[in-house]
Amino acid sequence: MNRAIGIFDSGIGGLSVWQALYDALPNESLTYLGDGARCPYGSRSSAEILRYTEEAVERLLSEGCKMIVVACNTATAVAIKRLRESYPTIPFVGLEPAVKPAALTTKRGIIGVLATERSLQGDHFRQAEAKYGAEVKILRAVGEGFVEAVERNEEHTAETEEIIRKAVLPLVEGGADKIVLGCTHYPFLRREIERVAGDGVEIIDSSEAVARRVATLLDENNIRAEEGATAEYRFLTFADEEYAEKLRKKAFQKR
Ligand code: DGL
Repeated sequence: MNRAIGIFDSGIGGLSVWQALYDALPNESLTYLGDGARCPYGSRSSAEILRYTEEAVERLLSEGCKMIVVACNTATAVAIKRLRESYPTIPFVGLEPAVKPAALTTKRGIIGVLATERSLQGDHFRQAEAKYGAEVKILRAVGEGFVEAVERNEEHTAETEEIIRKAVLPLVEGGADKIVLGCTHYPFLRREIERVAGDGVEIIDSSEAVARRVATLLDENNIRAEEGATAEYRFLTFADEEYAEKLRKKAFQKR
């Protein structure tokens, strides 16, 4: 089926998932919607996040998308259950902090999770915490200012390094040997986070696992693009044309 996969985020962050899909599924058309007008979502109320996410999904479905990837941990935490109930015929893929692979591979028995405030309060994270928290110590930190830095294309400034140090160092000093990136904006800061965390700390990003899940669901629902189909890439936003252009540029920019 040559209809596009719809991908949604509050802004630029979901492009980290877009890039994994672009690499893994070259025949699939991708329609990306980055809200942009109301980003960041992380400290907004659940009611607001739910409303914005539903608007975004409506928009992507009106563009004919065959599947929706909610490429935002925050929107997933708040809205995925409701979306699956509202659109039972559409396959949805959500994002949640990759606690499991970190918990299963930590050598020191301590992991760190970096995410937005709303994601850390969400059911997915709390369930993962309840499941793995008995064997593994789970430290958490909000990436205060991270989303804004990525939105402003300021990944490499001294100010950004400072906010990264503030969030990441307590995790490292607490003994974490795995740090989970629980927000899709954070992979754009991966190199900086790695530098601050130092050797011996592995940074875990879920985008490739999400791409594998999307591939499985395409097969299960029998909706893969035809062999040899030429993919189209579209970038939509609730902000302005300039923001749409920024999304397009960032999508093809090497991290
Ligand atoms: N990319 C979103 C996430 O994964 C950022 C949330 C926000 O806008 O604060 O959580």
